[in-house]
Amino acid sequence: MGTEEAKGFFRKTFGRPPARVVKAPGRLELLGNHTDYNGGLVMAVAVDKYIYFAATPRNDAQVELVTTAFPGKEQFYLDRIEKNPAAPWANYVKGVLLALRERGIHFTGFNGAIHGTIPFGAGLSSSAALEMATALAVRELFPYRLNEHGPGAPPERGPDGRLPALSPAEKMRIAQAGLAAESRFVGVNCGLLDQVSSLFGKSGQVVQFDCLHGTVQHDPLPPGASLVVADSAVKHDLSAGQYNQAREHCESAARKLGVEFLRFVDPPRLQPNQGKLTKREYDCAFHIVGENQRVVFGERALREGDVHQFGQYMLQSHASSRDYFLNSTPELDALVEIAQGIEGCFGARLTGGGFGGSTINLVRAGAVEEFQRRVAEEYFARLKIRTEPWVARVADGAG
Ligand code: GLA
Repeated sequence: MGTEEAKGFFRKTFGRPPARVVKAPGRLELLGNHTDYNGGLVMAVAVDKYIYFAATPRNDAQVELVTTAFPGKEQFYLDRIEKNPAAPWANYVKGVLLALRERGIHFTGFNGAIHGTIPFGAGLSSSAALEMATALAVRELFPYRLNEHGPGAPPERGPDGRLPALSPAEKMRIAQAGLAAESRFVGVNCGLLDQVSSLFGKSGQVVQFDCLHGTVQHDPLPPGASLVVADSAVKHDLSAGQYNQAREHCESAARKLGVEFLRFVDPPRLQPNQGKLTKREYDCAFHIVGENQRVVFGERALREGDVHQFGQYMLQSHASSRDYFLNSTPELDALVEIAQGIEGCFGARLTGGGFGGSTINLVRAGAVEEFQRRVAEEYFARLKIRTEPWVARVADGAG
């Protein structure tokens, strides 16, 4: 459906159908909050909400972009890629184009129409999905191979006209290009979680990402349980600085503890060194160390099919965000509290960067409708804010 809308919007804007359409999904973080830039461990899923990117190549070194989300057309030359304050949404595309070019990838311009079904500001990372969709759209129009030290021989289309699937190593390099766009062009110092989830997602499976080693493994989702997302309806703006600040606390804590990443710190090492850290640094480090452990334990729970135990780790994770990392909000706390009181809910927590956005809830399959109804009702009763919890279907990644 989204593909058709992107195609239709392209045709309406540019007067002919697009040459190619790609899509990249959003993600939900299940456990392992803010661990990614700390060299840690994280679990996430890709969800069936996407950014669709319809495009046709052009050879005059220009790019023209439109999106169904905002009015206006963004037009620029490839040799002059600059931010336009009137079209901040285009920064994710521009940042990726710059990152690809820095990696030696050659392209001569294109027209692009973007359509998305990922809610903005809800913590599902529509931005990383847009970055990955951009990288894949460029690959469709100007087939490239991204090797470790630059471009390799371009891939060839098969008899069905499709490009070969990306190798895990190449997916990781494309994810890195997205990260470069985000941190160097957009100005958010995030980690790789969102881009990796968007590319490595697998239907029915959890992506477990070891951010230190750059490796991914998949674990089955807990049987008999659904993932329900509740949007607190309080928008967060990652670039507002809270995210970058949290990262700085983690990095200064690691420095003072004499390690490159907090990944190398375990609880017995953290406690006796408390005196070396400020309270904020200690509390942030405490959260990260605990989150890394919860991913390890959570993986065991998944392997054993122990959905109750997995839910407990989710609740612990939220409490740690609320009490130590301070990236929760009263609205997210209310959603988690409400969820905890509903029969059939195994666990709930904020998902993603925090400071607003959504909670993710693990709910017994038969109890989902009642859960959705009660969360909406009780959230409105408490805060006079409307939310419509929805069931996330775990999807394949874009790669
Ligand atoms: C945001 C960032 C990710 C990650 C999460 C928190 O989604 O983009 O890199 O840090 O927050 O785990």
